[in-house]
Amino acid sequence: MSRVYNFSAGPAALPLDVLETAKRETLNWNGSGMSVMEMSHRGKDFISIAEKAEADVRELMAIPDNYKVLFLQGGATTQFAMVPMNLLRGKDKACYVNTGAWSKKAIKEAKIHCDVQLSASSEEDNFTTIPAVSSWNLDQDAAYCHYTSNETIGGVEFQDIPDVGGLDLVADMSSNILSREIDVSKFGVIYAGGQKNMGLSGIALVIVRDDLIGNVQAGSPSMMDYKNHANANSMFNTPATYSWYLMGLVFDWIKRNGGVSAIEARNVRKAEKLYAAIDASDFYANPVEISSRSRMNIPFTLANNDLDAAFLSDAKDAGLVSLKGHRSVGGMRASIYNAMPEHGVDALISMMDHFEKTKA
Ligand SMILES: Cc1ncc(COP(=O)(O)O)c(C=O)c1O
Repeated sequence: MSRVYNFSAGPAALPLDVLETAKRETLNWNGSGMSVMEMSHRGKDFISIAEKAEADVRELMAIPDNYKVLFLQGGATTQFAMVPMNLLRGKDKACYVNTGAWSKKAIKEAKIHCDVQLSASSEEDNFTTIPAVSSWNLDQDAAYCHYTSNETIGGVEFQDIPDVGGLDLVADMSSNILSREIDVSKFGVIYAGGQKNMGLSGIALVIVRDDLIGNVQAGSPSMMDYKNHANANSMFNTPATYSWYLMGLVFDWIKRNGGVSAIEARNVRKAEKLYAAIDASDFYANPVEISSRSRMNIPFTLANNDLDAAFLSDAKDAGLVSLKGHRSVGGMRASIYNAMPEHGVDALISMMDHFEKTKA
């Protein structure tokens, strides 16, 4: 069976090695005689899987001891609500930075709970830039400041962690977590859906500083309270056991591939060569300002969009799939997360070059 290079934005390609391990362990995990899917979350086998996943991600991201690592359900979207519900702590406003479609969704949800102070927005640049942090309007009386570290649809990414003074910093890292080294101690909360750099959809990894736990708004459903999840080691209800296991396999894969720094170096090479190919051509274009370009999601257009369908068809014939851009922006998008091998990017570049030579 031949596998394709899958450039999907999420759910996205997983390391082959992870899939092979999962396959091998499907019927009989580690001599237990059963699949992880069939195990009690309270049994020692699953507890060992859960604890190893947490220990590995703590090591990979150098997460300080005063942070809890939670494996929660409801994807990243549930965090759009859990963040204000837990972090407002009696305040009525929070700062948000609007850099694209995912920031907008987080802002819309936050507005249900509080006044949103828009600290910065790149909407008038059509979300092709990251607004300079020096220009942000930060209200130090706000409860926290939220930003989206990588915009999956627009393809813009923060290259540095913004300095927001004394405000607790919250980041939606759904589409770039574990792709670059970051200093977790700069954050109050980091959250990310699983389906791009960590595994399956439906699960979210939430890293939250201890002092931000235990302040949920009165009247909140108990599932929305970080404290309940933290006190129960993410087993307040039956956790998404298989998704947690799969995340653990991905963490183990990253460790065996040299950790986040080695993965980051590879991600830099992959993104640089794809942008270089786009920039060297008059046929392809990427609209994002160079210093704001994402290493993970690379949107590009063809000079003549009548050729889009032919491009996608030729790509598919070459074993390169899910390159169609998001419906809101059109064109193409290559999502090249950690699991995309370098030769997958090379294959895309050579197909693009060939297409340009035959069609331009
Ligand atoms: C940056 C970002 N935030 C949030 C989400 C929403 O994640 P979920 O669908 O897991 O709720 C996505 C999904 O693609 C995303 O890319």
